[in-house]
Amino acid sequence: RRLVVLVSGSGTNLQALLDEIERVGAETYGARIVAVGADRDGIEGLARAERAGLPTFVCRVKDYAAREEWDAALAEAVAAHEPDLVVSAGFMKIVGKEFLARFGGRFVNTHPALLPSFPGAHGVRDALAYGAKVTGCTVHFVDDGVDTGPIIAQGVVEIRDEDDESALHERIKDVERRLLVEVVGRLARNGHRIEGRKVVIP
Ligand code: GRF
Repeated sequence: RRLVVLVSGSGTNLQALLDEIERVGAETYGARIVAVGADRDGIEGLARAERAGLPTFVCRVKDYAAREEWDAALAEAVAAHEPDLVVSAGFMKIVGKEFLARFGGRFVNTHPALLPSFPGAHGVRDALAYGAKVTGCTVHFVDDGVDTGPIIAQGVVEIRDEDDESALHERIKDVERRLLVEVVGRLARNGHRIEGRKVVIP
């Protein structure tokens, strides 16, 4: 299977996928990353892709007259690599109709909270501020909402009294990286179908 990964930041989730595919081999894992895309330049996630010798592309919203044009351009850039599965690993933009028309149902996102709790761009901070005792991460298919698509897997992380946002986010990312690697591998090897809000991986 062919994976395109979208990033916006440090790319440690991308790195976890790269390392696992390197460790077990693309045949055994069931997939290889064919390209990495981002919504901005100069991020560590793109540097990681370049170090791995992967093609990269950047689609910046400000380079387009309208959001819809950015969305169509992003879809084109992804489609050029003929992915079977697209993975958002810390990609911080909401995709639109065009992108979902082409990749909906095979576009996976990872979110650093236990959806439906704490969706959006500050899930770690929101769980901490709320005084939750546990939080975690969610791997889900992207639908036309924000972090509302069918859930594939979740991992629980305790919140400690001494936690600040970055300490908690690092602990979440340890679980998140393992969960994403495991889920993407299963999807790649076994395929999947979505029945309403249920994801079935045979
Ligand atoms: C991840 O926790 C992701 O869920 C969130 O931002 C973080 C990205 O981390 N949206 P990285 O860029 O993969 O290191």
